[in-house]
Amino acid sequence: MTDVRRVAPFNDLSRGMARDRAALLEATAEVIDSGYAIHGKQHAAFEAELRDYLGAGDAIGVASGTDALELAIKAVMPEGKSVVLTAGNAGAYTSTATVRAGFTPRYADIDPVTLCLTAETIAARLDDSVGVVVVTHLYGYLGDVAAIRALLDERGVALVEDVAQGIGATRDGRKAGTFGHAATISFYPTKNLGAIGDGGAVIAETPEIAARVRQLRQYGWETKYNATLAGGTNSRLDELQAAFLRIRLRQIDEFNARRREIIGRYAAAAAALDPQLLTVLPAEGEQHVAHLAIARSARRDAVREQLAAAGVPTDIHFPLADWEQPAFARFAPDVELPATLAARAAVLSLPLFPELTDDEVDAVGAALGALA
Ligand SMILES: Cc1ncc(COP(=O)(O)O)c(C=O)c1O
Repeated sequence: MTDVRRVAPFNDLSRGMARDRAALLEATAEVIDSGYAIHGKQHAAFEAELRDYLGAGDAIGVASGTDALELAIKAVMPEGKSVVLTAGNAGAYTSTATVRAGFTPRYADIDPVTLCLTAETIAARLDDSVGVVVVTHLYGYLGDVAAIRALLDERGVALVEDVAQGIGATRDGRKAGTFGHAATISFYPTKNLGAIGDGGAVIAETPEIAARVRQLRQYGWETKYNATLAGGTNSRLDELQAAFLRIRLRQIDEFNARRREIIGRYAAAAAALDPQLLTVLPAEGEQHVAHLAIARSARRDAVREQLAAAGVPTDIHFPLADWEQPAFARFAPDVELPATLAARAAVLSLPLFPELTDDEVDAVGAALGALA
């Protein structure tokens, strides 16, 4: 296919940068004038503002969402345990972090409707070797994490929430990231709260966990040049990213609402289609922050081709289960996880970012409605 005019970009970071240009430049000047490059005033203010936004815990800036996972897992893994239980359909970030932390990933199946772990799917895969469960709020959906926490508390297992895709999601008045012993956030530029570079944060439930993460992010130092905690590394969020993130954090609820609205419009446009051909996953209510616009299709390749021909770019999040990737093949489960395999074969992602125009959203909707 040549020269198909795109009716919408899949993502376009330049629009948000243009919208925030004056504020970003002012923040840049402030950082330069301060003379601080890392761990200065901007960083301290961002950690405090993030903690206030979440309403509980402590926030610790780090260099990426993957680092946040590694440090959080290390900080909460109980003595003598070695397995991290997680979902296999969430992009392998937890698997990467688990291996880097020196532990072993194991996979539980997902709920076939929400595509996330549940207390039941976790319970089916727990044994005495499991020390940490990482629950990813995939695509922006915050499930019943309180039920998962209750199950894990009974079993002495720590809970880490991966909030990379779910910042702002709220259930029973509590924000994603405040249910676990620790939680992790990515500020990768396309995330709901995106920096202009890499960044991440760990949210810690207790001062003890926060102190461990603060040590781990800086060489294991208790005081300068005195490492008292093994497994430390260098993982710092810099002043410029912290300053940019402060600007974006003020707008996050507005961005999330716009993301939800766009998915609602796609869902309405596709409502009359045969559900086997295409179903748009709903992203309604405050427990969903619509990180990605996900559809399912039993004829995914054909649907992607039709959409491409209509000028609508699509992607797949994520095409392989973690253990189907050669680097993690040695962790392949010895039981069937059918919902995970079904999801990775059916999902496709539609254009979604808050700065899409209404005309672009309508054009994508029209292409969805015309699928046959
Ligand atoms: C669910 C999830 N977890 C973790 C990460 C890793 O974050 P980062 O790219 O900042 O390392 C990402 C995205 O990149 C993600 O989508």
